[in-house]
Amino acid sequence: MPRPAAVVFDAYGTLLDVHSAVTRHAGRLGAQAAAVSALWRRKQLEYTWILSAVGDYEDFAAITDRALGFALAEHGVADAALRADLLAAYRRLDAFPDAAPALTALRGAGIGTAILSNGEPAMLGEAVAASGLAPLLDDVLSVHPLRRYKPARQVYDLATARFGRQPHEIAFVSGNAWDAFGAARFGFRVHHLNRVPAPTEYWLDTVAEGRIASLSDLVQALSG
Ligand code: LAC
Repeated sequence: MPRPAAVVFDAYGTLLDVHSAVTRHAGRLGAQAAAVSALWRRKQLEYTWILSAVGDYEDFAAITDRALGFALAEHGVADAALRADLLAAYRRLDAFPDAAPALTALRGAGIGTAILSNGEPAMLGEAVAASGLAPLLDDVLSVHPLRRYKPARQVYDLATARFGRQPHEIAFVSGNAWDAFGAARFGFRVHHLNRVPAPTEYWLDTVAEGRIASLSDLVQALSG
């Protein structure tokens, strides 16, 4: 299998740890911190899918705020200052520790690197800058100009257009199984990043090139 011309990454949950926002303020949420974080993420994604299904769009920053509002309310937390602090933390998420070494290795091998994310450009740009990953990426692509969320096909086309390549010349890495599925259906060579690990879903056993447990595994898979 020839090496890809570029590797395109999902941002939230793949390079950036979405749970690091709650982790930073975990003491203020107590025993329900992990549950709040999980529900926040679940609702954020659900809202993107439902908006897509009805043909509407609201940007990811607004959706992230709405989802947090629901998650806090569901857990009986009425703390406006905490809500503001969590949202601010979401704009400065930690990168997973294996992200920078993997991006560095890929670039060293002459492979292009980019993010393709649902993130609204300002929130995404801030988070990528704060994580320290910005200098390791050729581009940070947001779905926002299309006003459509993944896994709509035309969204993945932003990456082929950016690199001037066919889908099969580009590797796509996502920690979100549904996103990996959409990218594989589009024609990318998909590596599903399954850090937890969770059981295989979304037909990824048949449509993905492989399942990786870390971004170091990705570098190994591409240099093998
Ligand atoms: C993203 C979300 C889906 O970064 O994780 O696009």
